[in-house]
Amino acid sequence: MERADARPRRGQGWATVGTMPVNAPLPLARQLAVLDVLEDLAPGDRVLDVGCGTGELAIALADRGFDVLGIDDDAEALRAAEQAAGDRAVRFEARDASAAPLPPARLVTCIGSTHAFGRGPDALTGTLAALRASQAAGSYALLGEGFHRPPIPAAYAAFLGAETGIERTHAENVWACEASGFRCLHAVTASPAEWDDFEWAFFRRRGKTEWRDEYLRHGREVMGFGLYLLVAAPTRGG
Ligand SMILES: C[S@@+](CC[C@H](N)C(=O)[O-])C[C@H]1O[C@@H](n2cnc3c(N)ncnc32)[C@H](O)[C@@H]1O
Repeated sequence: MERADARPRRGQGWATVGTMPVNAPLPLARQLAVLDVLEDLAPGDRVLDVGCGTGELAIALADRGFDVLGIDDDAEALRAAEQAAGDRAVRFEARDASAAPLPPARLVTCIGSTHAFGRGPDALTGTLAALRASQAAGSYALLGEGFHRPPIPAAYAAFLGAETGIERTHAENVWACEASGFRCLHAVTASPAEWDDFEWAFFRRRGKTEWRDEYLRHGREVMGFGLYLLVAAPTRGG
């Protein structure tokens, strides 16, 4: 999911974002808590964070003892990530995640970054296909993806344009995961308070009154963000 202008303008600097610790409506603590469901994930296991941005999740996972690689195609974000990581054992690489098969990992995380693999409704399915193609059966994925609560008022749909970034409902996101070779183990959603924190931090940073007003008028009621904890199902014959 990517909102219009979610990415800081070139030259403005990821490092100056400041007010919002992760670029997703679910706080880092809730992202990490979902992983507690996995009893067999152990320190030393390899984790790949796709579209890692400024690296908060990757760094937190390194602090838990995982062997973490964060990839992103934004060199400026990665410089901020490296700076924040200090001498921790976490690696960051600048690359287009969709340009080559993803390196295998015990856990792949992709939070708010499915637009790396497609646009509109294809973003989620493209991400699931890329993850499933590179991951062994039994490996895990944690996906953060937007959803909408139907119906979207026509005026808000017109405002958002063709690519809303919230293409499916929460249930449809789960079903899309399960139609793509994964089993969903757990799913949580951002609360209205978390959405408010996320959106107001965005307004403070960008000062986009039009976006704020449409959020207040419609978005607050219809937008959602889910975290989907998945396990790769065996492929036919494997
Ligand atoms: C909304 S941010 C989310 C960042 C981070 N996962 C978080 O939750 O804070 C989306 C990230 O995806 C990255 N991204 C977009 N397209 C990409 C691509 N093709 N390859 C790698 N990274 C990409 C952007 O640079 C950005 O850092």
